[in-house]
Amino acid sequence: MTSIERVGVLGAGLMGSGIAEVCARAGSDVVVVEMNPDAAAAGLARITASLERAVNSGKLDAGDRAAALARIRMGTEFEAFADRQLVIEAVPEVPGLKDEAFRRIDAAVRDPEAILASNTSSIPISRIASATSRPEHVLGMHFFNPVPVLKLVELVPSLRTSAQAVERIRDYATAALGKKVITAPDRAGFVVNALLVPYMLSAIRMLEAGFATAEDIDTGMVEGCAHPMGPLRLTDLVGLDTTLHVANSLYAEFKEPHLAPPALLMRMVESGLLGRKSGLGFYNYP
Ligand code: 3HC
Repeated sequence: MTSIERVGVLGAGLMGSGIAEVCARAGSDVVVVEMNPDAAAAGLARITASLERAVNSGKLDAGDRAAALARIRMGTEFEAFADRQLVIEAVPEVPGLKDEAFRRIDAAVRDPEAILASNTSSIPISRIASATSRPEHVLGMHFFNPVPVLKLVELVPSLRTSAQAVERIRDYATAALGKKVITAPDRAGFVVNALLVPYMLSAIRMLEAGFATAEDIDTGMVEGCAHPMGPLRLTDLVGLDTTLHVANSLYAEFKEPHLAPPALLMRMVESGLLGRKSGLGFYNYP
């Protein structure tokens, strides 16, 4: 099994920048392709700040920070993926956008053994794989936010992913990135979001019904159940738009009423209240 040294990441948003950072810290050479110059600049700033935080908390020495940053290159063309052994897609959760992204990654990557992975939280891997000429090398590689902090990666094989591709990525995620891996089925929400998102939606419904304040809902779960943050603050961290996409996928797949997005979530997304990344969500982030 050839070890993975050259990684591509598509998208420099919250997840893409975190994924690029952990791969570079693990010693991989990383190319990030992001078409939007503002998003590229913000992604690089996020990586720089996160590495700074790791240095300040004694988890990384200053030399390793410089080396990690030097291993990351930003680009705007899919051609930059030509020599990659692994490309991880992290574009927004819009099915048409993912299909197009995979068509273009597939056309750009030359190595027939390369793995094309998606960080999708909700779109079936089978659908994504069918946009490529190599479905046996396509799988889900789902990271959690903040990527540099949270250890989990869900590996999601489709019906056509080869066992060898799964083992190659399991090895890279554990041995190189130091992550813990679980294998999830190719069903909406995989394992974690199938459990987590209905809980977040329940909290939004509680708030919408005037059942309790946002602060009391969150304090209840932090102080009563030792969660690191309450469900509404967590929704702000994940992004209300992403939460809405996952809810829509869960509802489309399972048709259970409790999976349907609450009206409050839809109205907030339509109003641009996306949580931390937009400065406003259930809380303000000045
Ligand atoms: N980058 C790098 N390091 C970071 C970081 C970041 N973005 N955010 C926090 N850290 C580090 C800090 O440096 C700190 O390290 P230290 O203890 O060595 O100093 C440590 O993580 C804890 O951070 P803080 O003390 O600043 O803050 P908290 O203790 O409040 O932790 C948190 C913040 C890590 C976000 C914590 O609240 C948490 O784990 N929350 C739950 C997050 C969660 O559940 N995420 C999953 C979302 S679901 C998902 O992503 C799937 C998607 O498909 C929807």
